[in-house]
Amino acid sequence: DSIDPSGMIKDSASRDLYNIRKNIKEVEKQITTILEKLLNNSKFADVLQDRIITIRRDRYVIPVKHNFAGKIQGIIQDRSSSGQTVYLEPVGVVELNNKLSDLKLQEHIEIRKILKFITDILRDKYQHISRTYQAIIEFDFLYTIGKYSREFSCVFPKLKDRMDLKQVRHPIFLFMGKEFKPIDLRLGEKKKGLIITGPNTGGKTIALKTAGLSALLVQSGIPVPAEEESEIPVFEGVFADIGDMQSIEQNLSTFSAHIKNIKEILQQAGEKSLLLLDELIPGTDPDEGAAIGIGILHKIEELNAYVMATTHFKQIKIFALSDDYFEVASVGFDKETLSPTYTLHYNSVGESMAFYIAEKLGINEEVLDIARKYIDETFLQLEKAIQELEVYKAKYEEELKELEQLKNSLSEQKEKYDRLLKELQKEKEKRWETVKKEAEDYLKQLREEGYQILQELKTTKSGKILSSF
Ligand SMILES: Nc1ncnc2c1ncn2[C@@H]1O[C@H](COP(=O)(O)OP(=O)(O)OP(=O)(O)O)[C@@H](O)[C@H]1O
Ligand SMILES: [Mg+2]
Repeated sequence: DSIDPSGMIKDSASRDLYNIRKNIKEVEKQITTILEKLLNNSKFADVLQDRIITIRRDRYVIPVKHNFAGKIQGIIQDRSSSGQTVYLEPVGVVELNNKLSDLKLQEHIEIRKILKFITDILRDKYQHISRTYQAIIEFDFLYTIGKYSREFSCVFPKLKDRMDLKQVRHPIFLFMGKEFKPIDLRLGEKKKGLIITGPNTGGKTIALKTAGLSALLVQSGIPVPAEEESEIPVFEGVFADIGDMQSIEQNLSTFSAHIKNIKEILQQAGEKSLLLLDELIPGTDPDEGAAIGIGILHKIEELNAYVMATTHFKQIKIFALSDDYFEVASVGFDKETLSPTYTLHYNSVGESMAFYIAEKLGINEEVLDIARKYIDETFLQLEKAIQELEVYKAKYEEELKELEQLKNSLSEQKEKYDRLLKELQKEKEKRWETVKKEAEDYLKQLREEGYQILQELKTTKSGKILSSF
């Protein structure tokens, strides 16, 4: 009750404080009345720099011209940086300014007294207050998560050895109310690598960031904006090499910063790590950069770590298509509207579309005309070859899938026939048992009847009995 919402001690906190502040106001009023009189006095108009009252070194002063000498008596408290203005404390207010300083000091001492008093009361209740504060923070955190989950339809993905985030969205887009095209992010149990390619501005970096953020959210106990039945591994570490980390302070160039960062990542990563590498490896000769990038991907494969990487380099695209550890995906591009679709197409390698995008972004047409003359034909052919390879790969994977299904259904059928055969065999054996038993019973009965007849023959020697046969 003694402190106002901005953290200031209220006048009502103590009787003494109330009185001190009342006095302060009175003295301030007296000072300003005297100074205003001075400012309004036409006698001094030519030496006044400005008709304002201001404060310098906690004392009320007026700005006068540097050559005021002799016109107004007083103490110089300050000068403007140009030296043109002098801040003068006229003699008429010196006494009152002294009084004001003393009152301010008293106010300060009284405030300390009040704060000490309040602190003594609070100290006894410290544990209680601290626990309540923690509880409020926890409640606020849970409430916020609940509100966010409900607002953006979030889920907790199942914890599995693969990532399958269905129609996941980037939370920051949602917070900012920016539209976001949901994407599917997948990393397999065996194919633990995903290489994302496709047009500039197509959403590759965002895809990487969405994956990393989702993993970290889940592991912090916060649900993610994705569809039900989504899955995600528990990562022991999420490592990122995204953006330009060039730094003057750390003596790093674009290239050296990436290499240093990736070196450290490779030292720490293991089979339960998620590596997010945006653009393998920029800032150097593209051929050498791509080769180093492939070396890094090999190493990651050896570490058996989960990895998502983006690239514009053809060599890396070809490598990803030919290596079983990696899936490929490309961000979509609508050639009619010349705009990205922000959809991730799996089993597909995309072109960078740098010419289209640069044109769309408004680069000088002349620049592009000249550039077209310089584009290497062999590169275009390579791009075409990659497209063909991609078609073959997609077809091969499709056929492989069909074969797999066929194999599965064949083995299901075989199992069914084996089971039927066994049942038949059992039935046969069961039937044989019954028939055998019936035959044995019949034989037994015959034997008994024969024995009886013989007995009767023995007892009736007349042989009469024989006539019944
Ligand atoms: N899924 C999405 N939905 C809506 N907008 C998106 C989506 N993904 C990306 N964007 C928008 O596109 C912009 C560019 O995306 P991003 O930086 O990921 O492109 P990129 O493919 O990495 O491009 P580059 O190859 O030039 O680095 C983002 O800043 C964002 O505004
Ligand atoms: Mg990018």
